Amino acid sequence: MRKTICILPGDGIGPEIMAQARKVLERVGARQGCGFSCTEALIGGAAIDTTGGPLPEATVAACRAADAVLLGAVGGPRWDTIDPAIRPERGLLGIRKALGLFANLRPARLFPQLRRACFLRPDIVAGGLDVMVVRELTGGAYFGEPRGVELRDGVRVGYNTMIYDEHEVARIARVAFETAMRRSRRLCSVDKANVLDVSRLWREVVVEVARDYPEVELAHMYVDNAAMQLVRDPAQFDVLVTENLFGDILSDEAGCITGSIGMLPSASLGEGGPGLYEPIHGSAPDIAGQDKANPLATILSVAMMLRHSLDMPGAADAVEAAVSAVLDEGWRTGDIREEGCRLAGCEKMGDLVAEKL
Ligand code: IPM
Ligand code: MG
Repeated sequence: MRKTICILPGDGIGPEIMAQARKVLERVGARQGCGFSCTEALIGGAAIDTTGGPLPEATVAACRAADAVLLGAVGGPRWDTIDPAIRPERGLLGIRKALGLFANLRPARLFPQLRRACFLRPDIVAGGLDVMVVRELTGGAYFGEPRGVELRDGVRVGYNTMIYDEHEVARIARVAFETAMRRSRRLCSVDKANVLDVSRLWREVVVEVARDYPEVELAHMYVDNAAMQLVRDPAQFDVLVTENLFGDILSDEAGCITGSIGMLPSASLGEGGPGLYEPIHGSAPDIAGQDKANPLATILSVAMMLRHSLDMPGAADAVEAAVSAVLDEGWRTGDIREEGCRLAGCEKMGDLVAEKL
């Protein structure tokens, strides 16, 4: 049966990177003799401009009806002053919640070809850099109630609630242990259990779940130390699991030390239902529409989609190999350019990867 992909281009560079991802997807489909049906829907600022809100009902329905969702990016300065309740980012958070996508996998891998783009000293990354951040995605301070900004005795007060119940912690811990089982069987759980009650529960539950995974070597680390260790000695990590806000921050950090956030894909998964795949980077309004964006994070997200949602691991490998082959030939987008490289725009980069397939 033809698989259906719901495409959400979003804002800024979203449409242009998505066009490249789609090109690659179509080529893969043709090669494997299994075309995909792509539907397209509005999200973020693009949805606000047309429908007045960042996540129209029709978009949620189109995502639910699909086998997988591919998203570009949302947000931009145009909507920065809008009512916070309908900001473009609310569209992204809303679709994650609506689809129950509690597990966010963010692999931070340094392509050997990009070693010179890495921000760390060569001796630190001599052994390569390959960390998987498993970020909880539908809980914590992002969604906790109560939240708000209000006047208390004439003083403005802003607050959020970082809250997790034990089931939410246990299910993300399971995803992390399963991920570790498929990798080097080392898992580091990141929390702030020396200060936060919610982290104390987090750690307690992770330890309970660990009993089902005796082969996995479990460590715990406070988030401040983890942020430091990631740049000091990233090779000590294999799989990291952490709550939503810590994961947001650490995954950008882990991503950026691999050279460019423009290279990093992600998968957001729930219990059944479609997964959502998106680059980690944002909408980059400063370069939008100029054919400068790096489409590789989105193309690598297509690979994750083929692997996790479409049961096409061979095709996923092929896409990753195609990206690697293009880098081998010295092609680079602006964000990863280096002396002597062959500079490619967004569209050219998409063409190059598609040609390799
Ligand atoms: C991310 C982004 C989002 C987040 C924003 C755009 C809502 O930073 O996917 O990491 O904070 O989750
Ligand atoms: Mg982020």
